[in-house]
This record gives sequence, structure tokens and C-alpha cells, in this order.
Amino acid sequence: MKSQQIMIIEHLEPELYPWCIIEYKSISKIIGKSNLWFTNIKKEDKNKLEKYGKVSELSVKELNLKNSCILDPEAPNTLTSEEAKNFSFFIFGGILGDYPPRKRTEVELTKFIRNAEKRNIGKQQFSTDNAVFVVKQILQGKNLKEMKFQNEIEIPTGKYDSVILPYLYPLVKNKPRISKELVLFLKKKKGF
Ligand SMILES: C[S@@+](CC[C@H](N)C(=O)[O-])C[C@H]1O[C@@H](n2cnc3c(N)ncnc32)[C@H](O)[C@@H]1O
Repeated sequence: MKSQQIMIIEHLEPELYPWCIIEYKSISKIIGKSNLWFTNIKKEDKNKLEKYGKVSELSVKELNLKNSCILDPEAPNTLTSEEAKNFSFFIFGGILGDYPPRKRTEVELTKFIRNAEKRNIGKQQFSTDNAVFVVKQILQGKNLKEMKFQNEIEIPTGKYDSVILPYLYPLVKNKPRISKELVLFLKKKKGF
């Protein structure tokens, strides 16, 4: 990833839920604070994210950025390593997973940014932090076909309980990638 390439998370949940903050912190760890912007953040929430990246109350829809690529599962084409290195901005929906997917990226983001390219990283849904992780791998020269994934993850939340997250997980050393903080959060919460 070139130092001048920026990943933008357009926050699209009605509130900045603890689950969102955990994912945004995880994104900052993946790509570093200097390559990360959070947009569409309410004034009162800005201080909760400032340690993880640049924070703006403006929506990315108002920024009119040139040479940008929206990551959208509904986009017809898949992002390749060859083209990825030429984009200046990668825009992701700060959207929590929903099952079945409601095409929120397309409806709430892509539709409004006409001058951006749009690409998928496969048709299945990743969490926002894992989508950023996959795009970083693509930027490092690995195409999607060369990566390994696991469908769903089951997190034990008690002796007899567990929660299933029905998304696609990149495998790192044969284990699905999920932030440790999210696992702890789910265990404490005992599910949703
Ligand atoms: C949990 S996903 C939200 C998916 C939402 N249910 C939808 O249908 O659009 C959060 C963000 O990660 C990115 N993302 C996740 N999976 C993706 C995929 N297969 N292709 C492209 N982007 C993806 C998108 O930017 C998306 O807005």
C-alpha cells in the first residue's frame, strides 16, 4: 500500500455502537492511522475515533474525491492487484453485517457517488475490517483467487451457548481472522 493511498470508512449506522468502534480500531491496526479517514461522524462522537484515524463530520458523498473506488458486494467487477495500486481512495461502508444482506452499500453509498469506480471482493459479505484486510492484501499483490476463506465463524459465549457470525472470514495461518476484542465483547455480552 502506497503511503498516499487512503482508506475511508463512511459511517452509516444510526449510532456509533461499541461494535463499530471495535471494528474501526481493528481497521486502524491493519492499515495504520495515517492512511485512514472516518467520515459522517457526529460531532459528539469525533473524540471516540480520533486516536484511530482522521475524523470528519462531512460525508464522503460531499467530498467529490477523484480517483476513488467504492467497495460494494453488488459491484459487477472484482478488484485486481493491477488496478488497485492506481486508486487514491478506497471507500467502505461503515455498516454492520446483516443476514441476509440488504444491499445497504449500494443503496446508502454507491448510488450517491457517481464519479467513483465500484468493485467487489467477491459476492459474499465480509465485516468492514475484514474487507479492509482483503483490500490491503490485494494492494500487496495477492489476487482474491489466491486467498483462502472460511464461511461463518462460531464464537462460544458460555458453557452451552455460542453465536454464529454468518460472514466470510479470511484465513490467516489457517485460522479465520477476527479481532480478539470483538470475541471478548461477544463473550461478555453473551451474544447480541
Ligand atoms: C458488513 S459489509 C455491509 C454489507 C451490507 N450488508 C450490504 O449488503 O451492502 C461492510 C462493508 O464492507 C465492504 N464489503 C464487505 N464485503 C464486501 C464484498 N464482498 N465486496 C465488496 N465490499 C465488501 C463494503 O464496503 C461494505 O459496505
